[in-house]
Amino acid sequence: MPKDARISPDQLRSARWFAPDDLRSFGHRSRMMQLGYAEEEFLNKPIIGILNTWSELNSCHGHFPERVKDVKRGVLAAGGFPVELPALSVDESFTKPTSMLYRNMLAMETEEMIRSHPLDGVVLMGGCDKTTPGLVMGAITAGVPMIFLPAGPMLRGHYAGKILGSGSDAWKYWDERRAGNITDEEWIGVQGGIARSVGTCMTMGTASTMTSITEALGLSLPGASSIPAADSGHQRMGSECGRRIVDMVWEGLTPDQIVNPASVRNAAIVAMATGCSTNAVVHLIAMARRAGVDLTLDDLDALGRETPMICNVRPSGKDYLMEDFYFAGGLRALMTQLTDRLDLSALTVTGKTIGQGIEGAAVYNDDVIRPLSNPVYSEGSLALLRGNLCPDGAVIKPAACDPKYWVHEGPALVFDSYSEMKKAVDDENLEVTPDHVMVLRNAGPLGGPGMPEWGMLPIPKALIKQGHRDMLRISDARMSGTSYGACVLHVAPESYIGGPLALLKTGDIVRLDLPNRQLNMLVDEAEIEHRRAAWQAPEPRFERGWGYMFSRHVTQADKGCDFDFLERSFGQAAGEPDI
Ligand code: FES
Ligand code: MG
Repeated sequence: MPKDARISPDQLRSARWFAPDDLRSFGHRSRMMQLGYAEEEFLNKPIIGILNTWSELNSCHGHFPERVKDVKRGVLAAGGFPVELPALSVDESFTKPTSMLYRNMLAMETEEMIRSHPLDGVVLMGGCDKTTPGLVMGAITAGVPMIFLPAGPMLRGHYAGKILGSGSDAWKYWDERRAGNITDEEWIGVQGGIARSVGTCMTMGTASTMTSITEALGLSLPGASSIPAADSGHQRMGSECGRRIVDMVWEGLTPDQIVNPASVRNAAIVAMATGCSTNAVVHLIAMARRAGVDLTLDDLDALGRETPMICNVRPSGKDYLMEDFYFAGGLRALMTQLTDRLDLSALTVTGKTIGQGIEGAAVYNDDVIRPLSNPVYSEGSLALLRGNLCPDGAVIKPAACDPKYWVHEGPALVFDSYSEMKKAVDDENLEVTPDHVMVLRNAGPLGGPGMPEWGMLPIPKALIKQGHRDMLRISDARMSGTSYGACVLHVAPESYIGGPLALLKTGDIVRLDLPNRQLNMLVDEAEIEHRRAAWQAPEPRFERGWGYMFSRHVTQADKGCDFDFLERSFGQAAGEPDI
């Protein structure tokens, strides 16, 4: 117990299970002994739950069975008692129809697992895209002391003397393969070289975006999100999380003291400066709302306009990957460039401020982490749009698309389903020009279902063969954080519930005006109303199970796609009987 402890052993949450001299507590103690734990090991000590999102089908978390040992070593060294609990793995690569369908399931599981067990504090082990927001959302609501341990990015990809970036280079080589420019042998070589080690995608995709955001929120130890998974520094970070969480329990340092409007704003600024994934929008809004902070698309757009993107990591940056970012100083170094903009007094899991957490950090390569005077892109990574196609907003990543599309007008080419679109784009005789605006609908939170990462709609083969690699595309889907191109995403309200995207027809003229943040169909209001009156809602998709619950309670993209009944500020276990 540290000298400055604010709570005593009898005030530990786990004491409710183990301290009383009654029959129920006798049962709890005897079952701990059944597990082989002596009373001396767990009584009057912080019991630390290690929530481990490992599975044999989560390629990004392959090191977690080893890493959990490092965390346990840290917990024991600091005088706590570690217990490992499995949590839904939600891997990004294999989950169909989309991992996003299950983010809220992980969030609910996290909250209830913490609430129902004798845990005084938790270390959350996640990193593959949805695992970060899922764990953090649940733990914020559960309200016990918590630290997020990021999985860490994998090492750079390599093939035939070239460096490969997760996702981004897969799409690039795929287009070249469709154009007939690379051989089968080269394609298989890329397949074997693009993911060389454990860890999350090593571009600034959704995984590194969300772990960076979580560190900037103050919920990870300083520097944690930048350490490659395969680096021994990552093992030491694991044990440091274990040591620190024990002290956090004695200090009574809960997430409600950390996540507040100032820390959310810090996280949004850091996200914009990193060239973050578009997925940052839905997840950060959802995480913030769990803490009672109402972050809006307009807030994000305002921060985006005034925050230069200074992280030269693909896909928004040009040249580098997360390993380079780590060697250039990592997220702490990036934050030293933003000290005039961040609230440096925000508290973190260290018990100190975020300003103290970046003391001594330095940029070691100013091409990877640029000074504000030489940004990769003069504004932040994301822009939020409004207009008659997206009254509740839409998202675009200007830095990742050809500037010639920033102001663009062209005829719509509309598809109602992914399979219809897939067939059309492979038709070499498809009537399409580079000016066309490709539209996919029924791909939102309810329509997908789960808002799949379909938003980087494939360029039609007819255009690929002519040498085109970008065009304006619009959908109510999300896109992978490793994607790029002139893709308008997250159109809200979505088409499946009758949002205006549902009323667009092939041949209608669509206009994007990025500088003015406008996305409109140039169709007159009377005609739009006429189409609205004729629109018919589709049949509900689910009759039972998780999909049934999901489709009745998920909110739209601009609200973070959380469930309406989970969005409460720091939910205590209201109504929980005292047994
Ligand atoms: Fe796991 Fe990209 S697939 S982070
Ligand atoms: Mg991804």
